[in-house]
Amino acid sequence: MTTLTIMQGDITRQNVDAIVTAANAALLGGGGVDGAVHEAAGPDLLIACQKLGGCPSGEARITPGYRLPARWVIHTVGPVWQGGNAGEDAILAQCYRQCFAVAREYGLRSVAFPSISTGAFGFPVRRAARIALTEIKQMLRQTEFESIVVVCFEPEVYTAYRMLRAEIGV
Ligand code: APR
Repeated sequence: MTTLTIMQGDITRQNVDAIVTAANAALLGGGGVDGAVHEAAGPDLLIACQKLGGCPSGEARITPGYRLPARWVIHTVGPVWQGGNAGEDAILAQCYRQCFAVAREYGLRSVAFPSISTGAFGFPVRRAARIALTEIKQMLRQTEFESIVVVCFEPEVYTAYRMLRAEIGV
């Protein structure tokens, strides 16, 4: 039975098999959660990312976690919000599915997600939370992970995810 935890905190401190970071297509670090992940993982993470040659929006790549408590980092690139009519919902949903696919491929049992695309990429938080939790619910039916954690940094994001969790029933 997989447990889903929604928490407020810092994803870089999570002791799970993999944390997911919200990157950009260059995979060369940035601000937000990606900046925090690179800062905590140390310089070897950037070196590993440079060998990956980038990542298209909607896809995911995996590297070791280096100095992070998490053994692995799954790098995904969410959609930039463009008003909702440019396929953003589908790309965001694909990010979650691709991250789960990589985790399954590596036999990982616990994965922590940030709120992908809801910071610099401007995706509306409630809409993103609905997509994220819908994909997680779908995945929980199909695959055995021990633990899925959604780590919300800001209080308002945490509130949104908790509300949507109740609404979706996951
Ligand atoms: N732990 C968990 N969540 C965090 C952390 C953290 N340490 N730091 C920030 N966040 C949250 C943000 O507050 C936001 O809710 O992660 C969510 C995603 O925001 P961003 O990190 O800005 O990611 P995104 O909106 O997907 O934009 C990606 O921003 O940092 C750049 O290089 C990155 O170009 C890419 C873009």
